[in-house]
Amino acid sequence: MSDTPAEIQIVPMATNHLAPVLKIEKTVFRDSWTASSFLEVIRMSDKSWVALCGEGVAGYLVTQWVLDEVHILNLAVTVPMQRQGIAAKLMQFLIDLCGNSGMRDLFLEVRVSNLPAISLYQRFGFRQLTLRKSYYPDGEDAWVMHSRLETHDESAHEANELNERGREG
Ligand SMILES: CC(C)(COP(=O)(O)OP(=O)(O)OC[C@H]1O[C@@H](n2cnc3c(N)ncnc32)[C@H](O)[C@@H]1OP(=O)(O)O)[C@@H](O)C(=O)NCCC(=O)NCCS
Repeated sequence: MSDTPAEIQIVPMATNHLAPVLKIEKTVFRDSWTASSFLEVIRMSDKSWVALCGEGVAGYLVTQWVLDEVHILNLAVTVPMQRQGIAAKLMQFLIDLCGNSGMRDLFLEVRVSNLPAISLYQRFGFRQLTLRKSYYPDGEDAWVMHSRLETHDESAHEANELNERGREG
């Protein structure tokens, strides 16, 4: 991964981000979300963020939190700023937030042909869970991907077990 531009800042998505977000959305997706989808997301929850590079929107992440599950609904980075670690930064931000909020299960759907995104998600511990046939309007299948985060307690427990085994062995 190349170096993330130092000045990237992650802030909650707001209505003033709508125009640049829509511009990115239309460029990178065949079945892009509409302005009203994003407005609904901004109105209904505080679980969507933009990555700002200076004043400009470089990327965004939209999630939905349902009980103890987090669903990634949308993630994109503007084409000229791709491969600079911005999506990775958004994903790490989300995972840290989930860890601190006690949310453990993360899910998403991704086109089976979207190898860059699949690679990104795998880097963050997601695994293909099941295939949704003809999930997209053009008939393409989706992978449902899942990641289960360890709680701090579980990590500490595992570290203790390893220590114990080390002493026994
Ligand atoms: C997928 C996407 C969000 C990645 O954003 P990005 O900022 O370029 O990704 P990063 O620079 O943070 O890359 C992180 C990792 O993702 C994977 N990745 C990203 N782009 C990739 C590419 N073109 N080919 C292969 N792997 C890629 C790699 O594992 C990469 O790590 P590496 O650079 O060490 O190999 C971006 O390509 C995008 O906006 N695509 C169009 C929208 C989309 O498909 N969104 C996902 C919908 S589910």
